[in-house]
Amino acid sequence: MDETAPARETLLEVNNIEVIYNHVILVLKGVSLAVQKGGITALLGGNGAGKTTTLKAISNLLHSERGAVTKGAIKYRGEVIQGRDPAELVKKGVIQVMEGRHCFQHLTVEENLLTGAYTRRDGKGAVEADLQMVYDYFPRLKERRRSQAGYTSGGEQQMCAIGRALMSRPQMVLLDEPSMGLAPQLVEQIFEIVKSVNENEGLSFLLAEQNTNVALRFAHTGYILESGRVVMEGQAADLRENPDVKEFYLGMSDEGRKSFRDVRSYRRRKRWLA
Ligand SMILES: Nc1ncnc2c1ncn2[C@@H]1O[C@H](COP(=O)(O)OP(=O)(O)O)[C@@H](O)[C@H]1O
Ligand SMILES: [Mg+2]
Repeated sequence: MDETAPARETLLEVNNIEVIYNHVILVLKGVSLAVQKGGITALLGGNGAGKTTTLKAISNLLHSERGAVTKGAIKYRGEVIQGRDPAELVKKGVIQVMEGRHCFQHLTVEENLLTGAYTRRDGKGAVEADLQMVYDYFPRLKERRRSQAGYTSGGEQQMCAIGRALMSRPQMVLLDEPSMGLAPQLVEQIFEIVKSVNENEGLSFLLAEQNTNVALRFAHTGYILESGRVVMEGQAADLRENPDVKEFYLGMSDEGRKSFRDVRSYRRRKRWLA
């Protein structure tokens, strides 16, 4: 490790949280993770692993799902943010882009982007400048700015959802499954843009993805969730090279995807038998 490198600031700290739905269904069973300032952190795992639940726990959006954080702590810049109003979190710089690229279908792309600035009090000029910034990152949105969002493509709607989040001037974006339902080429394009926003604007991302392959190419660090538990974590480059990750998440095995946890306990059993 480079001794002269400045200490990295931990922006978000999730410490051993449990989430229960409907008072009975335990979905997150002690999840811990950290997001470094200026980094892209990937939260990986298959369908139902608990990625969306984790993001919603952070941005306090579980209420409407009859879910609640029943244990653990969530801190943003050292401050406990559990129970904070989502709008207050947006003012603090934390914003979530929901799974399924929610745009207001009947509004134009530009109107959608402007709704992202609703918590801001820094004036029209600043908002206008950021609209231009979003158009610079997403030239496609500029072309489509007068189109009703409901008539744009899935890729354009995903761009619109991310662009709208950027309009709130966030420090950290919780991005839920940006690749969902999009063609590989578009996924690549969207991740490239996320990467350049991260590098040029210093924005931090917590990125939930089933698409391990693409996420680990763009992220700096990663966590793998299975059934509400972190089963593995590390630098993205190390995870990419990890034989278990290769086998079970990067589709480099003939057997298809098995549970990572099953394999580990199987290996453990084998060791005991040996
Ligand atoms: N509102 C809810 N009520 C009850 N169970 C839920 C609710 N939302 C999600 N779950 C369950 O929680 C688990 C994790 O879901 P989710 O966080 O959406 O996973 P992911 O985003 O990784 O696909 C799943 O088993 C899912 O069925
Ligand atoms: Mg999800």
